[in-house]
Amino acid sequence: MFDVREATAADRPHVEALIAEMIPGCDVAARMRWLYESNPGGPAITWLAVAATGEVAGCTSFFPFRLWLDGEEKLGALGGDGYVRPAFRRRGIGALLHKASRDAMPRHDISCMYGAPGAMNVTPLKHGGSRESGQVVRWVRPLRGEALHVPAPLASAVAWALKPRPRARLVPAVANDPRIDGVWEAARGGLRLAAIRDGAFYTWRFQNAPAGRQPTFVIIDHDRPIGACALEPIDGGRILRIVDLLAVPGEWRTCLLSIVDYCTATSAELVDIKLLERDSQRRSMYRSLFVDRGKKPFLCMIPPGGDRRFVDPKRWFYTNADSDLDDHT
Ligand SMILES: CC(C)(COP(=O)(O)OP(=O)(O)OC[C@H]1O[C@@H](n2cnc3c(N)ncnc32)[C@H](O)[C@@H]1OP(=O)(O)O)[C@@H](O)C(=O)NCCC(=O)NCCS
Repeated sequence: MFDVREATAADRPHVEALIAEMIPGCDVAARMRWLYESNPGGPAITWLAVAATGEVAGCTSFFPFRLWLDGEEKLGALGGDGYVRPAFRRRGIGALLHKASRDAMPRHDISCMYGAPGAMNVTPLKHGGSRESGQVVRWVRPLRGEALHVPAPLASAVAWALKPRPRARLVPAVANDPRIDGVWEAARGGLRLAAIRDGAFYTWRFQNAPAGRQPTFVIIDHDRPIGACALEPIDGGRILRIVDLLAVPGEWRTCLLSIVDYCTATSAELVDIKLLERDSQRRSMYRSLFVDRGKKPFLCMIPPGGDRRFVDPKRWFYTNADSDLDDHT
């Protein structure tokens, strides 16, 4: 038998030990400070599963995220750091942890928990009350002929065809960047359901993240900020991942192509971005020469009788910013 309870300050050593097992090599103290304590959405809420012997079997957490739903701010949470020790797996503890977190949602005033979980956590999440609310698609674009394996004589023609000619450019963002606040205020008019991506969010999520691998930029068209983004080199720099892209209405493609242009000046071969399937259909990804390469489920959980707009796949805007990882290497 296992008891699931909400972790208290006294449980911190247990949580730290579970994180150290879950993410080998992780700077646990830095992750606790960043993800559990200094998130502008609020401190993390963690549940522990404890065996009758007193041994801690596993944990799961909510990282509160401020969400924008049809023009109003709501409190939601990104689900993360779900871990059951190997000796205790496949006995329903994962599902039990998720169910306990669902039961506690009204008490914490959390309207929705969401995320794109790893494969092992999909079934336990569904058993705990989450439902599939769409698919996350990975979109990839080659930056130069080598990535397409074209013969050398054609390489310069392919490079010319692939080179975007954007009118905007990327400039580094600063802490609590007022230009990102301005972009968010304009962009949110075009978003129905999304995590609030203002200057405070960008500062915490990317600039203060322990790994420091996701630099942020403001996208400027002449003197006008039209977007914001965070990029991350992965696979030894072969791929530049667009971890987040926020664009004012009507400027998504210009922003995307400015990023591609910026990436072309690096040694990366590919640029990629993860978006929800329904959302990406509206964003003309093929027109910008991105192709889809793989999908994984996007899951949402609302409490019984909760607001069903949170489980509507047509509403969500999602990127890798909606993840508890600050390093995808
Ligand atoms: C993901 C994880 C937390 C799941 O924990 P768990 O306690 O094993 O989860 P559950 O037991 O609820 O469910 C897992 C499986 O056991 C099955 N199961 C549930 N109750 C069971 C029972 N009483 N007896 C046997 N199997 C059972 C489930 O159907 C599921 O099987 P399936 O995936 O083959 O369909 C755990 O595997 C883990 O820590 N993985 C490594 C870290 C990780 O991937 N975290 C998720 C990041 S998003």
